[in-house]
Amino acid sequence: MSDQPNSAHLEGLKTFLRIPSISTLSEHKPDIRRAAEFVRDELRAAGLTGAALIEGEGNPLVFAEWLDAPGKPTLLLYGHYDVQPPDPLEEWISPPFDPAVRGDDIFARGASDDKGQTYILIKAVEGLLRATGRLPVNVKFLIEGEEETGGEHIARYVAAHPDRLKAGAAVICDTEMFAPELPTLCVGLRGIVYGELVVEGVGQDLHSGVYGGAAPNPLQAIAEILCALKDRDGHIRIPGFHDRVVPPSPAERDAWARLPFDEDDYRSREVGARELTGEPEIPLLERLWARPTLEVHGVRGGFVGEGAKTVIPARAVAKISTRLVADQRTEEAERQLKDAVRAVCPRGVSAEFRTIHSAGPSLVNPDNPFIRAAAQAMTQVFGKETVYIRSGGSIPIVGLFDQHLRIPSVMMGFGLPDDRIHSPNEKLHLPNFFRGIQAVSRYLEQVGGLSA
Ligand code: BES
Ligand code: MN
Ligand code: MN
Repeated sequence: MSDQPNSAHLEGLKTFLRIPSISTLSEHKPDIRRAAEFVRDELRAAGLTGAALIEGEGNPLVFAEWLDAPGKPTLLLYGHYDVQPPDPLEEWISPPFDPAVRGDDIFARGASDDKGQTYILIKAVEGLLRATGRLPVNVKFLIEGEEETGGEHIARYVAAHPDRLKAGAAVICDTEMFAPELPTLCVGLRGIVYGELVVEGVGQDLHSGVYGGAAPNPLQAIAEILCALKDRDGHIRIPGFHDRVVPPSPAERDAWARLPFDEDDYRSREVGARELTGEPEIPLLERLWARPTLEVHGVRGGFVGEGAKTVIPARAVAKISTRLVADQRTEEAERQLKDAVRAVCPRGVSAEFRTIHSAGPSLVNPDNPFIRAAAQAMTQVFGKETVYIRSGGSIPIVGLFDQHLRIPSVMMGFGLPDDRIHSPNEKLHLPNFFRGIQAVSRYLEQVGGLSA
């Protein structure tokens, strides 16, 4: 198998990256469709059968399959063609949807999360089909276009079509390597409950001099609610919230402690912070991978224009989320959060948490032939022992594949910690793109050696 960078692959990736398929902004619906069609056409050209868009409420899913390996296992290959908004635009060195190669990296929104990595799956399958006319395993592709907004469409589809999606394991390239050159499998993700905290005071904005001291202020209330829900040391103060939290096993803790990790380097180079925060008594990787969070993402309300306006706003809204870990349950956590918001709501205002989307946490047992084969394939291609990590991020489908299809997800990620996913100047390290293609094709060959 060639390990020479293939320029056609790079050109194809650039075409994919030029489509601004931002799922959270409705004005990008036509781009969402174009991205779905691009993926469908690529899958068709790669030699898969039945390549088609699956329409439904929400953004189209893309499906394709190749099932001519009787007696061999079947893999369900997943990725997402939607991306996060690129703002703040002025911080991009080159425009987010005009992919630019600088050094060994390609810069664009979606380069790493997840167009580049979805393309790795497509090009690996295409390469094997072109070279040999067949595949060592059966494959089904299911690519979605609303992962970044909670993945409602795929959730309904997976629940309704377990037979069509039947497979031995799912393969997902949408995570990160722990360090450059270090082959990594991700075996745990956090879940999420995302929503809006809506706080209402009086019926209209008021003069803050005339009424200040008497009228309730929803923005102040948001601050007070957030401080009551999480203390200055990062402890979440929601009754019962940690009851189901499973601590990592001693073996897992040991393995994490042996990972090549310099906390100071992480703080200064990767995060860029003066000081790290969070629960001080919990080791950093455990805080990131095995503890729930509560974060505020944005606050809307009052006067935010140029200059000064003395006003007490009538209403304010905060976007907040909590990340969940095994064995927290989404619905229970949501209820606990809603109840806690009501319980700590200051006098004179009403406060309500309204969920936008949610997804459960997931843990994959690495003691599984599909995972072991992946570790071997990664080790062969990268020339190093594969490490097992968890990630603090969420991929809603992983829990649903487990729940509805009863299959493990093999999370072979080729992103790097400095890829700046969701941030300005997102990039993908091109050597990882090409080695990712090799690693996935090696993996398919490896799985071809397992019995169905
Ligand atoms: N690919 C990421 C999740 C991820 C990032 C996993 C890094 C492991 C390492 C995914 O696209 C993502 O951003 N998910 C959202 C999910 C949400 C909006 C439901 C997230 O984690 O915020
Ligand atoms: Mn992703
Ligand atoms: Mn993402």
